[in-house]
Amino acid sequence: MLEKTFTWLDERLGIKTIYNTVLDRHVPKVNWFFTLGSASLFLFAIQGITGMLLTLYYVPSPDSAYDSIQYIMNDLAFGWLIRGIHHWGATLMVVVVFLHMLRTFFFAAYKFPREFTWVTGVVLLLATLGMGFTGYLLPWNQKAYWATTVGTSIAGTVPLIGPFISNVLRGGPDLSGVTLARFFSAHIWWLPAIIAAMIGIHLYMVIRLGISSIPKADD
Ligand code: HEM
Repeated sequence: MLEKTFTWLDERLGIKTIYNTVLDRHVPKVNWFFTLGSASLFLFAIQGITGMLLTLYYVPSPDSAYDSIQYIMNDLAFGWLIRGIHHWGATLMVVVVFLHMLRTFFFAAYKFPREFTWVTGVVLLLATLGMGFTGYLLPWNQKAYWATTVGTSIAGTVPLIGPFISNVLRGGPDLSGVTLARFFSAHIWWLPAIIAAMIGIHLYMVIRLGISSIPKADD
């Protein structure tokens, strides 16, 4: 029965072909450092799931954001756990993505023909940092407000276009409800969409080119 169902689906979806191309590949002898990319992917999935759960109760308005977080932490069943995982997962993801970048750098995996994998990786790193920056404002407490004031002021010191960048980020000269709406939008739509698209290209490249092997002294 199970086999029949699988054959029926496979004839229509080509599951075996997908499995063979994506997972059944020859891999060179590697070490634990080569698991950091998959760990980044796992953390992105965890952040996505816990983030979606948080949006069920979080209210992105200056009047309600702080109270909605208090509700999640103190009254909602397992709210503290979901927020805790999302909070620490964010820090861990930045660390793991950075370590993954160091691994590909020190093993020279960015060289031909993997330059484009590296370029998509740089976008992934920047977008991951952007997730941290935009997420930090969302609790709308003193720490969040002033950290974002400082962060956007620093962006404002860029030569020539600094004031423009700060204005776009804040949605005006000062932090306001517009800033909160903007950061929330970037945090749950724009940046995750960029990350998902980049991961798609990144993994396509990994599957197409295969994993690089550990460089030898005579390479
Ligand atoms: C959300 C962030 C990221 C995810 C989910 C991700 C995922 C992955 C995965 C699953 C692999 C294959 C396994 C491995 O080598 O670990 C890989 C390979 C690779 N990644 Fe990333 N990555 C991310 C960020 C980055 C960054 C920031 C860079 C560099 C700037 C980068 C550069 C590369 C390169 C060059 C390879 C090829 C490695 C090889 O062939 O040996 N990635 N990535």
